Amino acid sequence: MTIKTLDDLLAEGVEGRRVLVRADLNVPLQDGVITDDGRIRAVLPTIRSLSDAGARVIVVSHLGRPKGVPDPKYTLASVAGRLGELLGKPIAFANDTVGESARATVAGLASGDVALLENLRFNPGETSKDDAVRGAFADELAGLAEAYVDDAFGAVHRKHASVYDVPARLPHFAGGLVLREVEVLAKLTGQPERQYIVVLGGSKVSDKLAVIEALLPKVDKLLVGGGMCFTFLKAQGHEVGKSLLEAEMVDTCRDLLSRAAGRIVLPVDVAAATSFAADASWDVVPADAIPADRLGLDIGPESVALFAEALGPAKTVFWNGPMGVFELAPFASGTRGVAEAITKVDGFTVVGGGDSAAAVRALGLDESAFGHISTGGGASLEYLEGKTLPGIAALEH
Ligand code: 3PG
Ligand code: MG
Repeated sequence: MTIKTLDDLLAEGVEGRRVLVRADLNVPLQDGVITDDGRIRAVLPTIRSLSDAGARVIVVSHLGRPKGVPDPKYTLASVAGRLGELLGKPIAFANDTVGESARATVAGLASGDVALLENLRFNPGETSKDDAVRGAFADELAGLAEAYVDDAFGAVHRKHASVYDVPARLPHFAGGLVLREVEVLAKLTGQPERQYIVVLGGSKVSDKLAVIEALLPKVDKLLVGGGMCFTFLKAQGHEVGKSLLEAEMVDTCRDLLSRAAGRIVLPVDVAAATSFAADASWDVVPADAIPADRLGLDIGPESVALFAEALGPAKTVFWNGPMGVFELAPFASGTRGVAEAITKVDGFTVVGGGDSAAAVRALGLDESAFGHISTGGGASLEYLEGKTLPGIAALEH
């Protein structure tokens, strides 16, 4: 099975050709302002090389999870502005995806011009589970272009029209970002140099269960922080107060802990707060003594030290998910401390995921101190689980 690449398309020649680029421009927004433009920057080389080669470039993406109808909260308009600034040239923005505005915008493109169409998920066909509904939307999208490039690594795990069905309708190619991401993750699923240590955070065990199952036989240690650690602490018999808890996952966690035979490492102290707020009162308490009226919002300093020590002998590290509510300043220390410990590892380190990657930048950490920062959270986890990713499968010939 082979995958044709952007270089193959450029070698064919794209002068004057309409090329549809599926990007993942699903950036974090706060009150309509982009708080981290990493995903926009990551796809620039692909857009630039097509534009420089004279293609008429049509960029499409989703943003957030609108429900199949236009929703001003999720417009890509500000992303179009940022994309234009970063590219150093104006971007034509269509205020629909396959309607009149999109068709007129595409018709107005000259060689080298770049357009961004409105959020794909304003159309129910993008995410429909019904093949025919998705297919009908894919027909319209594909009708706008003559070739398709997928550089939306963060969305390759989604069986969506723009990811899965459009490539079946157009000559299709993988962009540089998708290729680089897959190359890096393949190192982790192959024979990673040991010790191989995985650091997992984020709020839910249920989201991470499949990847924990897949990784447990392969890793030397699994360090668990973030909201999900409380379900594990409960499984160890500790009370967790008002902390995030998935009660129905406690038995599963107990079983994982027993099978892991000491290789799952949990926090030993937590920042326990009176409420979920930046100005809440809080104290660091032992992980086995969280007061009943408190909720844990970060791992504590002893846990950071414990995790840093565990990372000492690592030669390969994969990190997904913040250690605490890093968006609230008092609860960013755990994520910062563990991230800093990862940068000191003498080996190959991968940051997987939209949130963790955004955390690295939001905390002002040196991005170049990590081996690779993935643009895909769910996508990188599903790759590590060994799942077939619809967006990658669709690119194969
Ligand atoms: C992400 O942010 O994980 C990707 O953009 C995919 O978004 P989704 O989880 O809403 O499909
Ligand atoms: Mg996601």
